[in-house]
Amino acid sequence: MTRAVVGIIGGSGVYDLPGAENLRRERVATPWGEPSDELVFGEIGGTQAVFLPRHGRGHRLAPSTINYRANIDAMKRAGVTDIISVSACGSFKSQFFPGLFVLVDQFVDRTFGRPSSFFGDGCVAHVSMAHPIAPKLSARIATAARAEGIEIAVGGTYVCMEGPQFSTYAESLHYKAMGYDLIGMTAMPEAKLAREAEISYATIAMVTDFDCWHPEHDHVDVASVIEIVRNNAAAAAKLVGRVLKDFPAEHEACPIGSDRALDNAILTAPDA
Ligand code: ADE
Repeated sequence: MTRAVVGIIGGSGVYDLPGAENLRRERVATPWGEPSDELVFGEIGGTQAVFLPRHGRGHRLAPSTINYRANIDAMKRAGVTDIISVSACGSFKSQFFPGLFVLVDQFVDRTFGRPSSFFGDGCVAHVSMAHPIAPKLSARIATAARAEGIEIAVGGTYVCMEGPQFSTYAESLHYKAMGYDLIGMTAMPEAKLAREAEISYATIAMVTDFDCWHPEHDHVDVASVIEIVRNNAAAAAKLVGRVLKDFPAEHEACPIGSDRALDNAILTAPDA
């Protein structure tokens, strides 16, 4: 049996693992360089958890500076089978209002300045990203939210921009017109790398603002993002805590094969 180990990648405002027991910090070395910080190992409700603050403690790393490959590789080396990522984001829809959690189910990747694959230098692989979110993991988060009385919307398309500047008004209108729901700067290439590492991945998006398209809301700024994130940090921790408490001890096969993504993806001959 493969033991389930849940990795939590905390975004802005989510910098630790509240409620965890037997905490231990460890610096994990990877061939891709340094992860954002030490990994924090702990247990919540008997489930093994590994936490990593995406921007590092003290929020030192900008979205384009984060070493996503090292972060995912470190999680893999720590035995992580499932990653829950928490990401602050802007919204293009009135129904996704600031303070709401959204279980994203699709991504559009508009990043351009980040290494986005483990493959390409000596070994070529093309994994499917048709369905980037592991459905069972996402359903567990929805169930946990209901159990805790936390409002969560299910489904949404998150466009990931390079940043660090927020969007122009024209870009914001463009993304809205494209039908995207949310915008952030960090879920990509994280989700792609998790898939290449055969780790199931789900994102809890925390809506913090209406970007800059909304005629009745101020344009996004850091102060408003931080305020919403602070107000929601306890609910995010409660939600993640509940998912972990109810998590099965044994890793369950992912119905869309996130955990077997390389089975038919490698093109390079084994003896090449
Ligand atoms: N993170 C939080 N709000 C955001 C926005 N409006 N655009 C990009 N990233 C964000």
